[in-house]
Amino acid sequence: MEIQLWRERLLPYELAVHELVEKFNHLAREHRERNLYSPIEQVTGRVKSVTSILEKMQRKGIPFEEMEEQVEDIAGIRIICQFVEDIWRVADIVAHRSDMEIKCEKDYIRNMKESGYRSYHLVIYYTVETLNGPKKIQAELQIRTMAMNFWATIEHSLQYKYKTNIPPHVRERLSKAAEAIIALDNEMSSVRGEIMNAQNSSLLQRNLVMDILGNIENLYRKSSKREVEKIQDEFYRIYASNDLMKLKRFHQQLDVIAEGYRAQAVTCDPEM
Ligand code: GTP
Ligand code: MG
Repeated sequence: MEIQLWRERLLPYELAVHELVEKFNHLAREHRERNLYSPIEQVTGRVKSVTSILEKMQRKGIPFEEMEEQVEDIAGIRIICQFVEDIWRVADIVAHRSDMEIKCEKDYIRNMKESGYRSYHLVIYYTVETLNGPKKIQAELQIRTMAMNFWATIEHSLQYKYKTNIPPHVRERLSKAAEAIIALDNEMSSVRGEIMNAQNSSLLQRNLVMDILGNIENLYRKSSKREVEKIQDEFYRIYASNDLMKLKRFHQQLDVIAEGYRAQAVTCDPEM
């Protein structure tokens, strides 16, 4: 097999990783736009390197003809969540999408690996459009909490350092750390409701402020400077009071004022 062929073979996987990362990031954006808590905190992706593919094929005795079917993680996406509950929400979202078909799941959360590794994996079929038409490929989604990711990242780097022969005393420490991660995730889950409420309020406040400032800027172009100054002073006063309800009411009032100006502009427009 020539280098040229590898490149061509891996090109659809590059596209898939690119598209999937964008799609999951977009899901997070959609939540935030609607003032909803996002179960997705961070998304990354990578195409497996040729050496890693070769190493895996050798380790598992996979023939070249079966590479694309049997190496399920050529395209790899990692989705990081804040809470364990978010993982199930993301899995549910994936299950209901029409552009992703679940081939299999590996639940290393309910069935932790001997190493202490915890993560929820989905292998999906995903179709990309290429010059030769549609191509259905596989991608591995690793969905895990920030705490699980912390453990996996450290353990992975140790595996790398010790070339898979991690000394027993380090292994033991890693096992202990894995238990601590479980306790941490549980602890965080128990305050999830309160944390989510706080995050939702700050998200709502941010969106309200953005809307209000946008409206003030529009009014500045259409009405008297003095009036807009008054509105802006009022906004700063309400903002300083740290009262979300007041901010909401102010946002509504400003909307009414802006609507009034829009109606005026329509009736005044001789072209209409
Ligand atoms: P790989 O050949 O390692 O890809 O394993 P596999 O194809 O038999 O599948 P498995 O479900 O065991 O692992 C899939 C992926 O999960 C791996 O490529 C790693 O990214 C991750 N993983 C699995 N086990 C461990 C582990 O013990 N430690 C860490 N850090 N990551 C793991
Ligand atoms: Mg892998």
